[in-house]
Amino acid sequence: MRLVFLGPPGAGKGTQAKAVAARYAVPHVSSGDIFRAEIGRETPLGRQIKSYVDSGRLVPDDLTTEAVTSRLGERDCAEGWVLDGFPRTEGQARALDDALAAAKTKLDAVVYLMLDGEVIVERMSGRRLCPKCGRTYHMVHMPPRSDEQCDECGLALVQRDDDVPETVRNRLATYERQTAPLVDYYEGRGLLVRVGGEGTPDEVRGRLFEQLKMVEEA
Ligand code: AP5
Repeated sequence: MRLVFLGPPGAGKGTQAKAVAARYAVPHVSSGDIFRAEIGRETPLGRQIKSYVDSGRLVPDDLTTEAVTSRLGERDCAEGWVLDGFPRTEGQARALDDALAAAKTKLDAVVYLMLDGEVIVERMSGRRLCPKCGRTYHMVHMPPRSDEQCDECGLALVQRDDDVPETVRNRLATYERQTAPLVDYYEGRGLLVRVGGEGTPDEVRGRLFEQLKMVEEA
């Protein structure tokens, strides 16, 4: 299965993309996770992209496309993948089309996870991460078992640098301007699957898996 997750920041793409990747036993490839790891390790790429990520702007297409397509070229991605956060511009979508054509394969579907602005802000302000394993929590909806500590690693959870209110506003504006047009791009290609992002994570997953069953049967 080769799937793309599209949708506004904080809609739950990462949460659901991980569940889908586990179900199909393929890697979850998140451009945001790739970038945060580069920034955390202070690599040359990490230093180059930090100011974009911290301010809620998009990393330039050439750097993003190189980082993601090289990950998709790794051996564990040969049988499929779930892409989360890429593509985010028409340039990136065309680069992905080219990479798929070169590999003589194609996308099965693009999941468009839809959610309203107010709920998005609430989800992002409650998000916490484990600085070691990257597991994501929400302090109200998906809290850790013990206060502010990772269930797996026991480390104190942290807030993402770009989850502060002003950067969240920038990320939402960036999404509307540069990424929302991809809904039409993929709808025009007959690949778009719309899924409501409201409700509990289990409710969203139930709706999503129903839709994916139809993609499998098509
Ligand atoms: P990225 O990491 O991709 O961030 P994003 O798209 O803004 O998405 P988020 O990770 O914020 O949210 P999500 O939809 O995955 O939600 P989640 O599941 O965590 O990108 C970060 C930055 O990197 C960008 O701003 C940009 O600078 C750069 N970048 C990345 N890709 C790029 C690209 N292609 N081109 C250029 N630049 C790029 O859920 C959010 C919270 O809600 C969590 O706390 C979760 O626990 C909770 N939650 C989830 N589902 C539910 C639910 N149903 N009910 C209640 N709570 C829920």
